Amino acid sequence: MEDRVVDGELHTEEATDELSLRPAMLQQYIGQKKVKKNLDIFIQAAKMRNEPLDHVLLYGPPGLGKTTLAAIIANEMGVQFRSTSGPAIERAGDLAAILSSLEPGDVLFIDEVHRLPRMVEEVLYPAMEDFFLDIVIGTGPSARSVRIDLPPFTLVGATTKAGMLSAPLRDRFGVVERLEFYEEDELCQIVERTAQIFETSINEEAALNVARRSRGTPRIANRLLKRVRDISQVRGEEEITLETTKMSLDMLQVDDVGLDHVDHKLLKAMIEGFGGGPVGLDTIAATIGEDSQTIEDVYEPYLLQKGFIQRTPRGRIVTEKAYQHFGLEAGER
Ligand SMILES: Nc1ncnc2c1ncn2[C@@H]1O[C@H](COP(=O)(O)OP(=O)(O)OP(=O)(O)O)[C@@H](O)[C@H]1O
Ligand SMILES: [Mg+2]
Repeated sequence: MEDRVVDGELHTEEATDELSLRPAMLQQYIGQKKVKKNLDIFIQAAKMRNEPLDHVLLYGPPGLGKTTLAAIIANEMGVQFRSTSGPAIERAGDLAAILSSLEPGDVLFIDEVHRLPRMVEEVLYPAMEDFFLDIVIGTGPSARSVRIDLPPFTLVGATTKAGMLSAPLRDRFGVVERLEFYEEDELCQIVERTAQIFETSINEEAALNVARRSRGTPRIANRLLKRVRDISQVRGEEEITLETTKMSLDMLQVDDVGLDHVDHKLLKAMIEGFGGGPVGLDTIAATIGEDSQTIEDVYEPYLLQKGFIQRTPRGRIVTEKAYQHFGLEAGER
């Protein structure tokens, strides 16, 4: 699979930039009104009772702000933020070491929590419910189980694949929140905020244009803005203009609703090769030389969400909206 400028995943070279772009408090976190309101209430209540916050599960597509929100929870609670990920915790002993080093009330963030090994998950259950660990030391006849008491803590789990989380683990989170794609005006605010942090200015039309092409995803908005800023600087502009924005993003082959050449290739293959469908996933995959899983997990979600394609029992179809987008008449089905 190729690197796309419009993919929601973190590109390695962006890691340091992201740190400086993360809002630290709930009030600076733009959008996700429902999630923010809920968390605000739970955090205030926990603080009033002087108890740690209930365990929180955040799920949703990449780049929408799960890690950011986890860190905000720790900041708002006034506790330490400890961060790890599912695949990094290989054995029960790794988890024990992390948990027993926490201070009371700390937030432990486990990214990709659906990838915790099953053995580790089972050790985590009593830790989440009653703050103790049951660990087996040694093997064979000399094996014995020891109980270790833990400080009360808050587990914040994040996943892009909530469906892959085991039911017993999911049930142990008191707060479960789904992050949604952002609205255009929210992304526009994020672009303006990021521009400020980069100490550049962007006019409102230009910011809105970046927002529109960002596929509802702050990480993509920030990435596009960075590319536009570079070109604007080279052109010697004092403020990023709409003209430069359009030119830069067209050059990156991100069209005015955030579709890139991969999306175009997929839609055009369906229109030109199959009269707009219905066409099966495997057939599409073979036609454009991609595997069906990648199409389903990576390419399709945004096209479905935007209503450019639809799933039917007989396969995928291209919608009227997609035809219009390409300036075509809907073909005979
Ligand atoms: N609500 C927001 N307001 C402002 N900026 C945001 C917001 N949400 C996310 N961002 C920005 O988007 C970037 C990506 O966010 P984050 O890393 O939290 O996403 P994520 O959901 O954890 O992604 P992944 O699934 O890849 O782990 C951050 O650098 C942050 O600057
Ligand atoms: Mg993350």
